[in-house]
Amino acid sequence: MDKPLILTRDPQLLDHLHQLSAAAGATPNVHTDPRGALAAWATSHLVLVGVDLLGELQALAPNRRPGVYLVSMEHLPDRAFREAVGVGIDGVAELPRSDSWLMELLADVGEFRSKGVSIGVVAGSGGAGASTFACALAVQAATRTDAALLDIDPYGPGIDMISGFDQLDGLRWEGLGQTTGRLSARVLRESLPRKGRLGVLSWADPRRGLVPFAVREAMSASVRGHDITVLDLPRTPDPVVDEVAARCTHLVVVVRTDVAGISAAGRLLERILPAGPASVLVRGGAADLTAIERVLDVPVIAAMPDQRGLNEAIDLGLGPIHSRRSVLARAAKVTLRHFGLEPARGRAA
Ligand SMILES: Nc1ncnc2c1ncn2[C@@H]1O[C@H](COP(=O)(O)OP(=O)(O)O)[C@@H](O)[C@H]1O
Ligand SMILES: [Mg+2]
Repeated sequence: MDKPLILTRDPQLLDHLHQLSAAAGATPNVHTDPRGALAAWATSHLVLVGVDLLGELQALAPNRRPGVYLVSMEHLPDRAFREAVGVGIDGVAELPRSDSWLMELLADVGEFRSKGVSIGVVAGSGGAGASTFACALAVQAATRTDAALLDIDPYGPGIDMISGFDQLDGLRWEGLGQTTGRLSARVLRESLPRKGRLGVLSWADPRRGLVPFAVREAMSASVRGHDITVLDLPRTPDPVVDEVAARCTHLVVVVRTDVAGISAAGRLLERILPAGPASVLVRGGAADLTAIERVLDVPVIAAMPDQRGLNEAIDLGLGPIHSRRSVLARAAKVTLRHFGLEPARGRAA
C-alpha cells in the first residue's frame, strides 16, 4: 500500500489532512521540511503540499512529477496559483470545500497497486478468437487476483455477453462518457458489474464509440485498482487503440494458422510492434509452433485448439471457461505463466 506524502508545518491543516486520510483509509507520510522530503517526493504516488511550504518548495525546485496538489484551509490568492504552476502542481484544493474530492484521491492511493499489470489481446485476423481468449484470461486471472476486463472494441461481440456478465447491473462505458476529471480506482472497481474477483467494463450502446479521455482514465484507474487488467483490442487501426496497446504491459496476438491468418497477423504485428513486445497465441491444435515463431519473429506462447461446446456455454451465460481443465482455461493459465503471473505448473489450480 502506498503512502501519500504531506508537506506542511501548519498544525490546523495537518490535523484536517489527518482526519481526511483516516476516513480514506490512508496512512500519510508527513514532512515539515521540504528538503528532507525529496526522496519521498520522487516515490510517493500522491503529494499534498500545504500552501505554507509552497515558497520553500519552489526554492528547492524539485523534479516535476504528476500527482502533486496544493492544499489550503483558506481561499488562495491568485499569486499562490501562479507559484503552484511554477512547481508543476496538478491542482489546488481549498478545504473543507474540496474535502470529498481530496478524500477520493487519498482513498485511491490506499488502493494503488504499484504492480498492476495490463494485458492487451488482439486478433491477428478477424474471428481468430481474441475476444473469447481475453475473457478466458480475465476469468482465469480472477481465480487468484483482482482482475478487470475492458472492452476496447465497441463493435466486437461484447465481452459481457461472452463472459456471462450481460445481465448484471453496473457501470458501462456510456457512464464514463461524461468523465472530465480523474477517475478513482476504487470508484471504478466498485461500480463495475462483478462476479467474484472479476469486474467487466463493456458497452450498452456502442454508437458513441471510444472517447479518448474516458479510455485513458478507465485504463489507468483499472490498472491502479486491479492486479491484472485484460483489454480486448480491435484489430482495426485507430489512434486510441494504438495508444492503449502502447500502454499495455504485455500484448497477445491470437493467430490462425492458415496462410491468410499468418499473413494478416504479420501485417498486424508490423503495426503494433512499435507499441511494445508482443507474444502469439496460436488458434488451432496441430500447428508447427517453431515455424510460426520463425515466420512471425515473435515468441509463441502455446497453441489453443478448439474448445468443444464453447458456443453453447456462452449462450447459457456460463462464460468461456466451463471447467478448470478446458482448452481455454489451460491456454489462459499458460499465458499467465508465460508473463510470470501464475505459479509454476504443479501448484497451478
Ligand atoms: N478456442 C476456441 N474454440 C472454439 N471456438 C472458438 C475458440 N475461440 C474462439 N472461438 C469462436 O470463434 C468465433 C470468433 O471468436 P472471437 O473471440 O469473437 O474472435 P475475435 O475477437 O478474434 O474476432 C466465436 O464464435 C468463438 O466462439
Ligand atoms: Mg473480437
